[in-house]
Parts: sequence; structure tokens; C-alpha cells
Amino acid sequence: MRVLTVALTKGRLASKTMDLFEKIGIRCDEMKDKTTRKLIFENKEYGLRFFLAKGPDVPTYVEYGAADLGIVGKDTILEENRKIFEVLDLGYGKCRMCICGPASAKEYLENNQLIRVATKYPNIARNYFYNQKNQSVELIKLNGSIELAPIVGLSEVICDIVETGSTLRENGLTVLEEVCPLSARLVVNPVSMRMDNARITDLIMKLRDATGEKN
Ligand code: PRP
Repeated sequence: MRVLTVALTKGRLASKTMDLFEKIGIRCDEMKDKTTRKLIFENKEYGLRFFLAKGPDVPTYVEYGAADLGIVGKDTILEENRKIFEVLDLGYGKCRMCICGPASAKEYLENNQLIRVATKYPNIARNYFYNQKNQSVELIKLNGSIELAPIVGLSEVICDIVETGSTLRENGLTVLEEVCPLSARLVVNPVSMRMDNARITDLIMKLRDATGEKN
């Protein structure tokens, strides 16, 4: 039996994903050791191995087939636009992609003005403004703490993830428009899907059933 490789997004999504795998009887206790610097973990019984990667790299590993499966946020799937199959909404990691800024920036959006948009997600922002809203904007790529941009005058608005909304609130910003809802998704390499169809389908079904269950 070929070992199937699963790429996990490092951090909170990875621990929620391991909880979900545990629900269907697949454990990987070695991964729970918070002190370990190991990146790859094997479950011999099920012929699975898991590795931890940065979110934006997960679709890359899956597209190339270095991982057969991956667990990654919908935001990253949309931004990376890789040739992978999205097969299941896992229901956790729920948040929203939004256009945010000071309340006073609302009029720039209503009047389709040429504004500056700071974001970690230039492809999502471009698609939203150019294809959905028909608004020309200047995109400014940042790598984190996006909320800073409108506060210090780098941009009029931001395109960013909102979960609880507390980062916005604590910085005097607000949601101006919603781009799309987000959550963790299971993705599959298209060739693996054909070559190991029975095993992968079985895994998808089990994860789907476990996702529906209450804790
Ligand atoms: C994300 C996002 C927001 C924040 C939203 O940032 O970019 O800043 O979380 O969460 P909230 O609505 O619950 O406040 P993250 O913490 O991932 O770090 P980053 O700023 O480095 O992107």
C-alpha cells in the first residue's frame, strides 16, 4: 500500500485537523509534542504521513503531488489558485474576507474611487475590485498587521481576514464590505484522486461524517 501524504497548515488549523483525524481513529501522538521541531510524522497503521507547512505552501505541495492531500484555508486556496481539487469544507477556521477601514472610507467604495488597498491577498483583492465591483484600485502587498495601513496613511482600506472583529475594533476600523466567507478545506491532488480513488474517497467520507458530529 502506497503511503499517502497529507500537508497540514502549521498552527491552529493543524491541531484542529489532528482532532478531526482522531475522531475517525487516526492518531499521530508524536505531532502533539509541542517541543518537537520535527516536520514530518508517520502513522504506519493507516499508511499515512503528515507534514507541517506554511499555509500558502500547502496548495503548492498538493499541486505537484508531493502531498496527496492538504488542509488549508479557503483564503489561501483562492489566493494561490493552484490546480487542485477542493473536496470538503471542514467547518472550522471560520472567518470572513472583508474590505475594512475607517467608517469614513465607505464613500470611496460607494463612489468607485481610485483608492489604495493594502492586503496580504492581492489576487483575492484584485478579483473582488476588478471583476466583481468594476472598481480600479491600487493594490499594496503587505505581509501582516494589515490593520496598520489605513491608520498610518499607507492605504484607504484593507482587504483582510476578520474572525472575531477585535483587531478592527481595537484599532478604530470597521468592516465596510464582505468579500466571502472562509473556513478550512480539504484539498486533493488530481492525479492522486484518480490513482488512489477508493482510499481517498473513503477518507473524505469519514472526515465528512466526523465534521458533522458534535464534539
Ligand atoms: C489575522 C487577520 C487580522 C486578525 C483578525 O491576522 O489578518 O489581523 O487575524 O482576527 P480578529 O478579527 O479575531 O481580530 P493574524 O493574527 O493571522 O496575523 P497577521 O497580522 O500577521 O496576518
